[in-house]
Amino acid sequence: MKKQLLELLVCPHCLPLEYPLTADSIREQDGDIETGTLKCRNCAALFPIVEGVALLDPFATESQRATNKYETDELVSSYLWSHYGDLLDDAQASHAYATWAAQIRPQGGVALDAGGAVGRFTFAMGGCCDFAIGIDTSLAFIRAARQLMRERFLVVALKDEGLLRQEATIRLPDTWPSERVEFVVANALALPFRKNSIGLFSSLNLVDKVPSPLRHLQEMNRVTRDCDAQFLLSDPFSWSTEAAPVKAWLGGKTEGEFAGKGLANVATLLAEGRDELAPAWRVAAPGHVWWKIRTHSNHYELIRSCFVHASR
Ligand SMILES: C[S@@+](CC[C@H](N)C(=O)[O-])C[C@H]1O[C@@H](n2cnc3c(N)ncnc32)[C@H](O)[C@@H]1O
Repeated sequence: MKKQLLELLVCPHCLPLEYPLTADSIREQDGDIETGTLKCRNCAALFPIVEGVALLDPFATESQRATNKYETDELVSSYLWSHYGDLLDDAQASHAYATWAAQIRPQGGVALDAGGAVGRFTFAMGGCCDFAIGIDTSLAFIRAARQLMRERFLVVALKDEGLLRQEATIRLPDTWPSERVEFVVANALALPFRKNSIGLFSSLNLVDKVPSPLRHLQEMNRVTRDCDAQFLLSDPFSWSTEAAPVKAWLGGKTEGEFAGKGLANVATLLAEGRDELAPAWRVAAPGHVWWKIRTHSNHYELIRSCFVHASR
């Protein structure tokens, strides 16, 4: 983990109180912490840094990791294709990330890509702000993103059919600077960052995957600046009780506070700045993009991800 992140970090266990983390027994090279421990001065919780990866998800358990589909080799390979298929000159590649990137304006400060998976959008944000951080609960995804950041290339075994695999090499363009990005394991519902520390926040295809979508928005709001800030949310709104109970959904139901469609409800919440989302956001006209995930050579999932861009 790049040492410069230390000044942004707070203990995710102690939220909403913010206590800094101090680094103990660190082994570093050229400003990169390879191993060490981050310790909360208040609750004494310890967060290890292992092979350069800071593990800052306060809810993570070994058994969760063992059953998380996003930790599997198949999903890592699927997402590497989804994020970097255009760099492989694959005719089937989706151009969703370029469309999302076109929604944001360049601006100073730090960007945060929540649930950023293997890092494509984090690299895109690194190109339009001073520094971008990708967070995800999947250690396997964060390892793949960091490998790309450090080595600038990664060999991926794409599923062809059954047990057959095709190797492909992803090479990052020179215009995507590794020194302006970092990736850590963290949870979008308890972000280990100070309030008002983020200028640009993205949440792509995440809000329908978390157990508390409103808590995710509130955490976004806590860490983003009160002014000179942007927020991009995109989602297919595939509400499911596997991720969250119906009462926690922000749309997709006929009754209650969040009856109606998810995109419209999120836009209203932001524009009104209620439910701990103040100061209110200016919300631009919504749009959508076709996002694609590859399972194997003959099987792709095509997903309409509906986005809203907000600023304040
Ligand atoms: C559907 S994928 C979207 C990935 C990426 N944002 C994109 O659009 O390509 C959802 C991602 O969110 C991550 N995730 C799920 N729950 C999370 C949470 N509570 N905090 C952070 N990441 C989470 C998953 O590991 C996965 O990488």
